[in-house]
Amino acid sequence: MARRNWSWFWLILALCPLMLLLRSHLPAAAPADAVQPIADSLKLVALTFDDGPKTRTTPRLLDGLDQRGVKATFFLIGKQVEEAPELVTRMAQSGHQLGIHTYDHVALTGLNQADFDAQVARTRQTLAALLGYDDFLLRPPYGTVDDGVKRNAGSPIILWSVDPEDWHERSVQREVAHIVSKVTDGDIILMHDIFPESVDAALQVIDQLHQAGYTFVTVEELFAARGVTLEPGQVYRNCPPEE
Ligand code: NI
Repeated sequence: MARRNWSWFWLILALCPLMLLLRSHLPAAAPADAVQPIADSLKLVALTFDDGPKTRTTPRLLDGLDQRGVKATFFLIGKQVEEAPELVTRMAQSGHQLGIHTYDHVALTGLNQADFDAQVARTRQTLAALLGYDDFLLRPPYGTVDDGVKRNAGSPIILWSVDPEDWHERSVQREVAHIVSKVTDGDIILMHDIFPESVDAALQVIDQLHQAGYTFVTVEELFAARGVTLEPGQVYRNCPPEE
């Protein structure tokens, strides 16, 4: 009977602590909330949703976005944030970008400082208290901007370049056709997550534009990918690639 060779056993036993030591020095996984750099060679598009959150429609949109791994940008009404804070927390946790759409949906043009602050600063404070940061884009209702709005904004002003007017006929088919036929690289699409038809249309648009090779990004990611620094008080509508 051959004598059992124990040398391998002792060698492996001696290597165990060494391997544990090496493993503890491997780099940790990147935190989930880190903004990942987006390659500029991709066709990029930003989906944006105004006038929420709304308990009856927004959760289904968030489910659909999660299932598709898509990040969007939500411009929120301060009063509704107070009524459904759990939806806003969920948006932030899912990696969506958040912005201000005034406290109770009024046009911001022609307002004095106090009235402007009651709409914008108040909403910023509500969001900051909920989320622990205060870095929020601004989208003025109706897209109306004057010098006062630019002066008082305190953040970049984000308008849009594709508008299916989803509040109007509420036709899923028409909205999808409008967006898919108009969209080009770098566009910002305006929708509203307060209508069930808009939720359906948005999810169909995502599936069709994924097939067409588009990548959905937040507004911040879109501009960062193209090397554009968003400035407070400046108006932005889209971010096409440089010629
Ligand atoms: Ni609005």
